[in-house]
Amino acid sequence: MEKLVINGGTRLTGEVTISGAKNAAVAILPATLLIDGVCTIDNLPNISDVKISCDILQTLGAKITWISEHEIEIDTRDISCSRAPLDMTSKFRASYYLLGSLIGRCKDAQVGLPGGCNLGARPIDQHIKGLEALGAKVDVSQGKITAKAKKLVGTSVYMDVVSVGATINIMLAATLAEGTTIIENAAKEPHIVDVANFLNTMGADIRGAGTDVIKINGVKKLKGNTTYSVVPDQIEAGTFMLAAIATKGDILIKNCVTEHLDCVSAKILEMGGNIEGDGDSLRVWINKRPQKANIKTLPYPGFPTDLQPQIGVALAIADGTSYITESIWESRFQYTSELNKMGAKISAHGKTAVFEGVKTLSGAPVYATDLRAGAALLIAGIVASGTTELYNLNHIDRGYENIEEKFRKIGANIQRVTE
Ligand code: UD1
Repeated sequence: MEKLVINGGTRLTGEVTISGAKNAAVAILPATLLIDGVCTIDNLPNISDVKISCDILQTLGAKITWISEHEIEIDTRDISCSRAPLDMTSKFRASYYLLGSLIGRCKDAQVGLPGGCNLGARPIDQHIKGLEALGAKVDVSQGKITAKAKKLVGTSVYMDVVSVGATINIMLAATLAEGTTIIENAAKEPHIVDVANFLNTMGADIRGAGTDVIKINGVKKLKGNTTYSVVPDQIEAGTFMLAAIATKGDILIKNCVTEHLDCVSAKILEMGGNIEGDGDSLRVWINKRPQKANIKTLPYPGFPTDLQPQIGVALAIADGTSYITESIWESRFQYTSELNKMGAKISAHGKTAVFEGVKTLSGAPVYATDLRAGAALLIAGIVASGTTELYNLNHIDRGYENIEEKFRKIGANIQRVTE
């Protein structure tokens, strides 16, 4: 078993470069199944969710050539199979994008019920509703989802909840459908815009991504033959911004889209931090103990649920009592009991957690309960006095490239140890 051993009490200073976005990459890779040709994808993060996405594409007949650590060429001319291996798809959440892509390309799709972080109930009713509206018959049984269609025909789909995954899945299925599909009450996250930009670069006709109405005019074919670069990771950038605040540090975050981080910047200013930005980089610093702040997670452009545990660490050591309301995932406060082992004073009940700020944390053995909880506990280990041992690294490795190396370069004392 691997663990991170963190000797804490460090102020983080220096520069960090953000990788391509995990949540965009894990949607763009299945989207290549809609292309009858060859394309190149650049700025892919080197994380395990990307590796498994590539492995699945290969089992379906895609030919993948790694050009460099972050760039691949994918040839999807000979897709021979529309049934993804169940054991592989159940390893991560984004495998549900294979449904939209395969039904779009082959009019037949089968994937295992998606895995990923345990954040509470993760229904897929909106994905199914959208695919059925386009003309697919969908069956969920025996741990798998099967979809079949004679043809897909564009239609209007009103989303009952704002869902990132369902918005992208319907967009994927509608790209090659006959006629026009309109998604109303669509999610607006940066990676939705990125997937639409990718598909449009390959020949699709998608308008309105980034607003709550997306219009997809079906096209006959996506031809590929071009290169696409994945957008920088909003959540990785936010993680380092909040690490600067929690460690009373000073970090220059390079290769980020600063407007994607406005919601985080606003909270950091409220907490007494400082921010300077110039388009694709942000300097975040604070010279004193952060102040209390209240947070409510919301769909973009609201405060992202995927940065809730990381800001939770800064609030755990802030001056005053803060409240976090989690409105997306019911089990997202599991990390708070791990933080309490390190001396935090947090009580979580249902959707709300109360953070009574303490002056400092102290090292302890802790377990990453999910991907973002893992990042938060890593930051807590850097803040804490003494040694923290962080377990369950498989969660962190799914979504952060070279995380300990990036933190080491800005001053953290972290070693990955195999027990
Ligand atoms: C994506 C992200 C995840 C992030 C989440 C919210 C990926 C791979 N994962 O997850 O990191 O935390 O967005 O920003 O991009 N819902 C339904 N029915 C559905 C679908 C969702 O009720 O069919 C509900 C969910 O229970 C949740 C809310 O809608 O309360 C948002 O979920 P959704 O945006 O779909 O999250 P994911 O796409 O799974």
